[in-house]
Amino acid sequence: MNLMMNRWKALAAALTLVAAPVASQEGQGDVVYVPTPQIVVDEMLNMAKVGPKDFLIDLGSGDGRIVITAAKKHGARGFGVDLDRYLLKLANAGAQKEGVSDRAKFVEENLFNTDLTQATVITTYLLPEMNLKLRPKILALKPGTRVVAHDYHMGEWSADQERVLIVPEKTVGDPGKSYIYLWLVPARVAGVWESRLAAGGEARQYAFYFDQEFQEVSGKVTVNGRQAKFSRFRLAGDAVNFVITANLGGKPVSHRFNGRVKDGTIEGNVTVTGDAPGPRVIPWTATQSAHGEMKMGNDAAGGR
Ligand SMILES: C[S@@+](CC[C@H](N)C(=O)[O-])C[C@H]1O[C@@H](n2cnc3c(N)ncnc32)[C@H](O)[C@@H]1O
Repeated sequence: MNLMMNRWKALAAALTLVAAPVASQEGQGDVVYVPTPQIVVDEMLNMAKVGPKDFLIDLGSGDGRIVITAAKKHGARGFGVDLDRYLLKLANAGAQKEGVSDRAKFVEENLFNTDLTQATVITTYLLPEMNLKLRPKILALKPGTRVVAHDYHMGEWSADQERVLIVPEKTVGDPGKSYIYLWLVPARVAGVWESRLAAGGEARQYAFYFDQEFQEVSGKVTVNGRQAKFSRFRLAGDAVNFVITANLGGKPVSHRFNGRVKDGTIEGNVTVTGDAPGPRVIPWTATQSAHGEMKMGNDAAGGR
């Protein structure tokens, strides 16, 4: 509900960003230049937990404040792209002045052509339709890549986290407020996964049938060919966490699975409770035996 309200507000705010005040209108391309207030930049980088191992790309970098702050306060590396030569000059001079020009660079490029494969973090302060246009390219990146957007969402791809900051000096968008959205690129888990577990004195055969729409996963599970109850699936980047309850030997046996998805396998552990006096943690590996399609919503660009 909150998300829907925020989306309507964001849409209204987008209309204001298109018609931003003349004083802040520079920049070139698909959206005018409006800088993200510094307190919002700080919060965006904190939400994404930016650190020295990160490579950040700011799409439409303006005066460069996001990449420069990431380099100076978080030790990250990265670059920004813009089409406005005046802003690019300002950004490179800013990086020089702050002593981070070796780690923060700004280049002239259309953001829709930027190679994003190096990024561990992507930041945007663009219009919703621009975010939507970028969405398929972002969803094809390495699972776990973080995307942080100021004010504007990604359509039907719900944010993993969102925050509203009170920013009294902000006059564009939703005046006095900034919305920050954080997404993690989800691993592709749609399809069928199989594993065997030696548990409760027997070898059990598990089959997981996952449907996926962005980071939302549902589906069914069988244990030794019999359907089990499947609940609470969480997918955060490449990390999966879900619970099943199987009726085994007349008793409900709960399994809490945790693992990381990589190259057609999930590796981690499972905590089994209910078939022995206490819970047991057992190593767990699942192998993908059939691939499914990740659904990507029905909105504008559709992500397809
Ligand atoms: C709203 S400003 C955001 C600036 C900066 N990211 C920030 O948050 O402070 C958007 C920037 O995107 C740039 N821009 C617009 N369309 C672009 C495009 N197609 N390619 C590259 N830059 C673009 C504009 O010149 C402007 O500097």
